[in-house]
Amino acid sequence: MPLTAHVDERQHLIIGGCDTNDLAQRFGTPLWIIDYATIEQSVESCKLGLAAYPNGSIHYAGKAFMCLAMAKIVKRLGLGLDVVSEGELYTALKAELEPSKLLLHGNNKSESELRMALKHGVKIVVDGISELSLVAKIAAETKKTADILVRLMPGVEPDTHHYIQTGGTDSKFGLPIDELDDFISIVLGLKDSIRFRGIHTHIGSQSHDLTPYLEIADILADVVLYLKDNYEVPVEIVDVGGGLGIAYVKEDTPLPIHDWAAGLAKQVIRAFSERGIELPELILEPGRSIIGSAGVTVYRAGHEKTVASGTRYVALDGGMADNPRPATYNARYTAAIANRMNAESTQTTTTLVGRYCESGDIIIKDAGIPAKSGDLIAVFATGAYNYSMASNYNRTGRPACVLVKDGSAEVILERETNEDLLSQDRVPAWLSD
Ligand code: LLP
Repeated sequence: MPLTAHVDERQHLIIGGCDTNDLAQRFGTPLWIIDYATIEQSVESCKLGLAAYPNGSIHYAGKAFMCLAMAKIVKRLGLGLDVVSEGELYTALKAELEPSKLLLHGNNKSESELRMALKHGVKIVVDGISELSLVAKIAAETKKTADILVRLMPGVEPDTHHYIQTGGTDSKFGLPIDELDDFISIVLGLKDSIRFRGIHTHIGSQSHDLTPYLEIADILADVVLYLKDNYEVPVEIVDVGGGLGIAYVKEDTPLPIHDWAAGLAKQVIRAFSERGIELPELILEPGRSIIGSAGVTVYRAGHEKTVASGTRYVALDGGMADNPRPATYNARYTAAIANRMNAESTQTTTTLVGRYCESGDIIIKDAGIPAKSGDLIAVFATGAYNYSMASNYNRTGRPACVLVKDGSAEVILERETNEDLLSQDRVPAWLSD
């Protein structure tokens, strides 16, 4: 739950000082609610943990949730930002984030994305040798020098869903370590167009402890030492990515973000000190652990039905289009009845399903709450990878999103209307009457 969540005397769920029932009335459902205080606290805890490192910085991973207001929050909290597309980069620039605090990621960046990054002096995390050539070509053409990091494929995987593991040796992301010599030799021949700044790795997402990262610190320190000894190439920046998980259900017990940051700082200091190497700048890229628990989705419960197996379905007015994670990763969530928070959790067979035309559109199987038609259902921890992965499936508009803080709620993403849905449609003349 968000930090500010509590229940008032009417048994209503309050977030950020706002009654979720009033929010639903005012802004409609489904509604994404983001609690500013939770974001702020996660960021502060992460900063405190990283304070153990002399030169550390936090780059929020924009792919978790990004819009103009979020970019402004990133700016206000003094974070850097990872972007992974032209859209995210454009949003960051529109929010007047300092380009030097941005990193452009991606395993197949377009020429236009690379040009935009180069134009503004945004550092580029290069994914492999063929991308290096493209970056160098565009840099030479535009008479710029590209500041680059290289993303390494370290061969380490966290214990998480296969789809969100990224560090293994058969990953589509990053440079296989055995191609490092070739990569660096090319870099050394491109001094005018490429400035090599550092190394990056991101091993996956929704990891609950530090175990996979322990190995990472040693691998990265080995690479830094290797580049120094063999090529006299200094590595200024070491970026260990993001990946810390959050609690979606009560069985999830992730490390607190403070301990994650402090643990990483400690491991990097240890690994570099053991090898007698000067400490580089250390970047962490948390996404989910900054925004995930700050988000709550509220839905209105519609029709109910009990089927032959005894399963009782309660259908929500949203579903897989605003939260594709259960259908994509079998992700689990926790829900509450926001208009009667004291409802006893007895009917474990109640399954909350979405309104979309897919049998797999199940938001929570056996939700453990006696939801009934007309209730306001709050689903927790929907801040990360919900809006950012949402779709217009069944030609439905995406929900509105409000930012709540100290009793006030403001729209940061308008609800998409039918007109919005039509706004990109074009009809060939021969089909027009
Ligand atoms: N840095 C890089 C290079 C990344 O690729 C990612 C996430 C992050 C940082 C942030 O990871 P986080 O701290 O949020 O775990 N859609 C999936 C998650 C995909 C994560 C992709 N990369 C989900 O809904 O679980």
